[in-house]
Amino acid sequence: MKRVVVANGPNLNLLGKREPHIYGTRSLGDLNDAVRAKAKELDVEVSLFQSNHEGEIIDFLHKEAPGSAGIIINPGALSHYSLALYDCLLALAVPVVEVHLSNLHAREEYRSKSVTARAARGVITGLGFAGYDLALEFLTSL
Ligand code: DQA
Repeated sequence: MKRVVVANGPNLNLLGKREPHIYGTRSLGDLNDAVRAKAKELDVEVSLFQSNHEGEIIDFLHKEAPGSAGIIINPGALSHYSLALYDCLLALAVPVVEVHLSNLHAREEYRSKSVTARAARGVITGLGFAGYDLALEFLTSL
């Protein structure tokens, strides 16, 4: 069975409470449930992880990504500056889809630049939870 790795970065544990006008009222648990449901429908296994620590995300990806069908990552604010995470995604050499719940291009200027996105096949931004479903469909179709 194909396996896809799903990583969520800093502050995404606060989904539902954090700026609900931007990120919505559903929690990270709700997001994980939605991803699991989509994975079941597509008959794919998912490894889900969230951390507020850059190094923990990198360690998780080093461990889980090799041999997987790809990575879905919402790096949170790490998108905007983490060259360590960018290098990690390049090194792992599996397809990556970067997902953002909000539309980065409709927000502060500094959010429209993602350094990690250069390592991704594509970026889905602004479609909320649906972005993860679409990323999962794409990676399982490869
Ligand atoms: C985010 C957008 C980032 O700019 C922000 O730092 C986040 C969440 C999103 O999902 O829209 O933490 O990645």
